[in-house]
Amino acid sequence: MINQAIIPLAGLGTRLLPLTKSFPKEMWPLGKVSILERILSECLSAGIKEIFLIISDRKKIIKDYFESDKEFEKKIFKNKKALQQLNILKKYKKKIKFVFQNKPLGLGDAVNTCKNKITSSHFLLVLPDDVIINSNCSKELITAHYKYKSSVVAIKKVSDRDVNRYGIVGYSAKNRNHLKINQFVEKPTIQTSPSNYAIIGRYILSKKIFKSLASKTKGKLGEIQITDAMQNLLISNEKFTGCIFKGKYLDCGTLDGYIKSFNEVGKN
Ligand code: UTP
Repeated sequence: MINQAIIPLAGLGTRLLPLTKSFPKEMWPLGKVSILERILSECLSAGIKEIFLIISDRKKIIKDYFESDKEFEKKIFKNKKALQQLNILKKYKKKIKFVFQNKPLGLGDAVNTCKNKITSSHFLLVLPDDVIINSNCSKELITAHYKYKSSVVAIKKVSDRDVNRYGIVGYSAKNRNHLKINQFVEKPTIQTSPSNYAIIGRYILSKKIFKSLASKTKGKLGEIQITDAMQNLLISNEKFTGCIFKGKYLDCGTLDGYIKSFNEVGKN
């Protein structure tokens, strides 16, 4: 059963500075709710029962947001509508646990902080910069995991110009929306890229990934990369499926992307 998820939030958010200096991008609104609540809602609808939010000391504001505040509740207790709005957070609070990453050593290192928390063979990893609307991408990946009995990554075709911004997959076979992956490369040049299929932030990973991450070798940008750990697993015969998801991808990791995403969500 896939019933645990990891959501890494301990990055520095450098592309959105100075806006992210004291207010994490994951807390920014997208439509009527924050980016993070959208992601949490996707996880719960996909059947996830326990969610690990990886934060850092700089991002304690995220923990505070979900903490209940009795003093504040007392102040607004006559305002039923306001209380109701506040109580929405309680449904998430029950499912989340906070894990601290002491130094921002990269996504791979962030995931590795949960190595002793994952109890089943596979888990869901969701990157909050990548919002997917109109379809539950996590659910699609979980379905593909059971069908192919493999690890799964969400993928999307990108232009030649954009392959050097993403982790890219190579593949040996294609069955409708599913690819049999035979290679992972982090941010290749178009000349060395095995395809135009980019990994978008949703993964079903085997617990074996922790062993692969433990080697702690630094990849592109001097960070511990999840793509390199997946490539190591692939070499040791772990099966990976690429799932071309149905929903619409919104990139909230850059200011232009965030503004476009906000406008897109407003249309719905
Ligand atoms: P990014 O590489 O996009 O970094 O991280 P970032 O900090 O979000 O943003 P930029 O690039 O500096 O603008 C991908 C995901 O991994 C998390 C981030 O919070 C984000 O969700 N992450 C990254 C960590 O949790 N820890 C890290 O050490 C690095």
